[in-house]
Amino acid sequence: MPQPTDLPNALIDAAREVRENAYAPYSKFKVGAALRGKSGAVYVGVNVENVAYPEGTCAEAGALAAMVAAGETEFVEAAVIADCPAPLPPCGGCRQKLAEFGKAGAQVTLATLDGQRLVMSVGDLLPGKFELSHMDKAK
Ligand code: THU
Repeated sequence: MPQPTDLPNALIDAAREVRENAYAPYSKFKVGAALRGKSGAVYVGVNVENVAYPEGTCAEAGALAAMVAAGETEFVEAAVIADCPAPLPPCGGCRQKLAEFGKAGAQVTLATLDGQRLVMSVGDLLPGKFELSHMDKAK
């Protein structure tokens, strides 16, 4: 179940810091994401927009790409932050991307710049996810 929290969190700090580098000239909506890999290393990402709008990428996707490029394929904790009225609900595509690399119990903290926090899990974000077993008949 989602839990509100006001605990300090180093991962949120990393997401807040990297958010400054977001490239969001079209939406003006900067997002920062940070992941803690199973190894303990932290990976960050920002949204990177494009004048051809569908080519833009989300902050979560950037952080996941950095993690995979570094040779890790599992995160144990994530944080996403934006300047919004309530903690940012990750988009549908990012929920599926997070579910690819995080177990159902992995914690995802959604944060706002003004200090709101909502702690969810990967499983909370994407119940009934599409997974490998759904393709069994195709084998
Ligand atoms: N955005 C993210 O980076 N993550 C999300 O989960 C939701 C949306 C970005 C994409 C786009 O650059 C901007 O926010 C507005 O949609």
